[in-house]
Amino acid sequence: MDENGHGAQARVWLETYGCQMNVADSQLVTAVLRRAGYVTATKLEEADVILLNTCAIREHAEERVLGRLGDLARLKQARPEVKLGLLGCMAQHNRAALVEKAPWLDLVAGPDAYRRLPEMLGESGFDPAVDVRLNRAETYADISPEYGAGVRAYVTAMRGCDKFCAFCVVPYVRGRERSVPPADLIREISELAARGVREVVLLGQTVNAYRYELVGFGQLLRMVAAVDGIERIRFTSPHPSDMSQAVIDAMASEPKVQPYLHLPLQSGSDRILAAMDRGYTSTQYLDLVARVRAAIPELAISTDIIVGFHGETENDFGATLELMRAVGYDSAFTFKYSVREHTRAHRLGDTVSEAEKQRRLSEVIALQEESSLARYRALAGRVFPVLIEGPARRGVGMLAGKTPDYKTAIFPARAGLTAGDTVAVRVTSATGHTLTCTLA
Ligand code: 5AD
Ligand code: SF4
Repeated sequence: MDENGHGAQARVWLETYGCQMNVADSQLVTAVLRRAGYVTATKLEEADVILLNTCAIREHAEERVLGRLGDLARLKQARPEVKLGLLGCMAQHNRAALVEKAPWLDLVAGPDAYRRLPEMLGESGFDPAVDVRLNRAETYADISPEYGAGVRAYVTAMRGCDKFCAFCVVPYVRGRERSVPPADLIREISELAARGVREVVLLGQTVNAYRYELVGFGQLLRMVAAVDGIERIRFTSPHPSDMSQAVIDAMASEPKVQPYLHLPLQSGSDRILAAMDRGYTSTQYLDLVARVRAAIPELAISTDIIVGFHGETENDFGATLELMRAVGYDSAFTFKYSVREHTRAHRLGDTVSEAEKQRRLSEVIALQEESSLARYRALAGRVFPVLIEGPARRGVGMLAGKTPDYKTAIFPARAGLTAGDTVAVRVTSATGHTLTCTLA
């Protein structure tokens, strides 16, 4: 038995919903629990503790988790000794409703409460253990997450968000911005490099708002580039307003920083951008795109688009399509606006019908498919270095990896080639999602 009264080998089953930050947080949670003597369950049926790390960004994400909680309630009925916990953004967002709707939960923990998980799991009683306090200082800088296998690792550089876009729940559920000290990040990344990781993706809700004392994000990129063994550096997600010249310069001059930028647009209409409180106009966004493209000619750009925000007219929507055409994105994540409690847009309500949102979404997706196909096909005949990740998901005898500009490339395996190697490939054909290549 450990100090919490569990068998020394209590087994944990952890499911992760939502974004890359949540995947990274789950790796952190796994590390916290391992330190406390827990091990990972290999299947749900043998778990002593079941945890869901959840997402609150759109209603749909929450509905998925509520459905899953229903399944787990039945499991809990059959095996009442199993501890069931809800972690992450939904825990923070819906704590009161959750405790009411899901009274069989043993634990509800927000994103700043993970240090206390072992203690909370040890609490027994009829009421769930709840900790949804946000903590302005918590960066978990001293805890090394349990990274998965693979040549790429996602490393949290900053947490929280101070932007308060009118539609977005993130600042409420993840709290204020705080950055991990550079010394901790560099130590962590050096250890990853020693274990065979070749690519790091620096993570943060607004990652380029990173600041620790005098170190800003541009300088952080240069510090990571100085780590031996790390060959490729990426980051996600930056905010257009924080794309300083220092960041652009670091991307342009550090060969390890890869020519790929995820630059969330949300809308192409100035009226809607203002209503969303995004902090830029369509012209400023296009200027920024022109500046980064001038500095980094091979740059690929992806984006996030929301259709059907409060008050979005056909004209506003047309401006989004126009801006997408003007930029020519390599890929895009597209969403129907979902009203979120606590946000500033919540009281405005929904003005665009579900059917109309769906129509606009389909149009945006069709336009993006066209744009992706053109951007991918334009690479036919070109040669790129690809960092091998492993066997391709489809295609017998094929390997897969990413080009510098983050496109999936598949190519024939050859004896001696393994994950972590970089190989030159030539593009022979393309869809809007994959480059098929030969070894160059
Ligand atoms: N409704 C729809 N999409 C949203 N996003 C954030 N909040 C909402 C919302 N309420 C999208 C934005 C953001 C991405 C991570 O999720 O496009 O960039
Ligand atoms: Fe949400 Fe805006 Fe912060 Fe991104 S920058 S997490 S969209 S509030």
